[in-house]
Amino acid sequence: ARLSVRDALGARSTNGERVKVQGWIRSVRSQKEVLFLHINDGSSLESLQVVADSSFDSRELAFGSSVEVQGQLVKSPSKKQNVELKAEKIEIVGNCDAKDSGFVHIHTPIITSNDCEGAGELFQVEPSSKIKVPEENFFNVPAFLTVSGQLHLEVMSGAFTQVFTFGPTFRAENSQSRRHLAEFYMVEAEISFVESLQDLMQVMEGLFKTATMMVLSNCTEDVELCHKFIAPGQKDRLEHMLKNNFLIISYTEAVEILKKASQNFTFTPEWGVDLHTEHEKYLVKHCGNIPVFVINYPLALKPFYMRDNEDGPQHTVAAVDLLVPGVGELFGGSLREERYHFLEQRLARSGLTEAYQWYLDLRRFGSVPHGGFGMGFERYLQCILGIDNIKDVIPFPRFTHSCVL
Ligand code: 4AD
Ligand code: MG
Repeated sequence: ARLSVRDALGARSTNGERVKVQGWIRSVRSQKEVLFLHINDGSSLESLQVVADSSFDSRELAFGSSVEVQGQLVKSPSKKQNVELKAEKIEIVGNCDAKDSGFVHIHTPIITSNDCEGAGELFQVEPSSKIKVPEENFFNVPAFLTVSGQLHLEVMSGAFTQVFTFGPTFRAENSQSRRHLAEFYMVEAEISFVESLQDLMQVMEGLFKTATMMVLSNCTEDVELCHKFIAPGQKDRLEHMLKNNFLIISYTEAVEILKKASQNFTFTPEWGVDLHTEHEKYLVKHCGNIPVFVINYPLALKPFYMRDNEDGPQHTVAAVDLLVPGVGELFGGSLREERYHFLEQRLARSGLTEAYQWYLDLRRFGSVPHGGFGMGFERYLQCILGIDNIKDVIPFPRFTHSCVL
C-alpha cells in the first residue's frame, strides 16, 4: 500500500506490513552498519525515520533529494518514535545535486548599485529615454549590470554558511583579447568559517576536478569530437591536470620566476605590477602544465574586500588565482576582510564608506572569517575543450564593438 508520511507514522499495525512511502530527505545519518534517513512529504510536521543497511549508496541519498521507499513498517526500538520504515528498496525520484557538498544555490541580482571589483568596468543601467520617470533617477542611485555576485553571496553565507551562484556577469573591459568577454557566466561560491587559503584552494581544486570528471563521463562524445577536430592531444593534457595535485606558489615567488625569464615577455615582470596573460601562461608551463595557485598578491593591486596579511613592507592580501594551461587565470578568490576596523579603513581609503554601510554591518553583527571565489565559465570551457579563443565557446559573444546579433 502507498502511505503518506502521516499515515505511516500513525499506522496501527506494525507487524511487517509492506508499504511504499514517497517524500523528500530531511536528514541523512550514516553509521557503520546502518543508514538513517528522515523523510517528509508535507503531510506531517514529524518526519518518518527510514532505516536502511549500509549497502545503500549514501552519496546519492542527499538532503533535499526526493525518494520512494519500499519496505516494512516496524515498531521502532527508539523512544523517539513509535514506528519506523525498514527499507528494502530506495529509489531516487529526483536528486538534489547542488546540495551534494552542502552548498545552497542563491540567485544574486543582475542589476546592482555596487562595483564589487572596484575597477570601474561597469555598464550603467537606465530606463530608455522614452520612459518618463518621475524622479530624476529610476533607482535613486546609479545602477549597473553586476560584475560579480560576491557581495550578495557574502550576505547569504551569513545565513547558510556555504552558498553558490551561477549567472551572467558583465564587464566593460576594453579588450580584444582571446579570454575577455563583455558578458560571461561565472560560478561563485562563498563559505563561512573558512580561515585559510588552503581550505579555499581545496574547494576550488575539488570543483575543477569533479566538474571535469563529470563532463568527461556524461558528455564523452561531444568532448571527444572537440578534441579530435580542434585540440588533438587535449584529452591527455586534461588527464595530466586531473591526476596531479595542483601547485601553490606565492605572487612574490612567481615574480622571481618570471624575472629570470624576462627576455620572453613584452611586459617586464616586476613586484607590485599585475601579472599579464603572457606571464600567467609562462608560469603554468614552468609548473609542468599542472594548474597552479598563485597566492598573496600585493594589497595595492586588489579590491577592498580582500583580507590584509599584515606582512611588512611588501604588503599583501590573502588572494588566490588559479592559473590553468592554455588560458591563464581561471579562478579568482580570496579570504574576505572580516575585521570591522580593517575594512572600515580600506573603504575609507577608496572613498566607499557611505555606499558600503550595509557591507560594514556584516562585520558589525556576528562577523565570521569567510572566503570565496569565482570561476569564469567560458574560460573553463576553453580550458577543458582546448579552445584558443573565448569567442568560440559561446554562440553570441559580446565584446567591444560587437553586439549586433
Ligand atoms: O577574478 P575576478 O574578477 O573575481 C571576482 O569577480 C570575484 N568577485 C569572484 C569571487 O570571489 N566571488 O573574476 C573571476 C573569474 C576570473 O578568474 C575569470 O575566469 C572570469 O571570472 N572573468 C572573465 N571571463 C571572461 N571575460 C571576462 N571579461 C572576465 N573577467 C573575469
Ligand atoms: Mg581576477
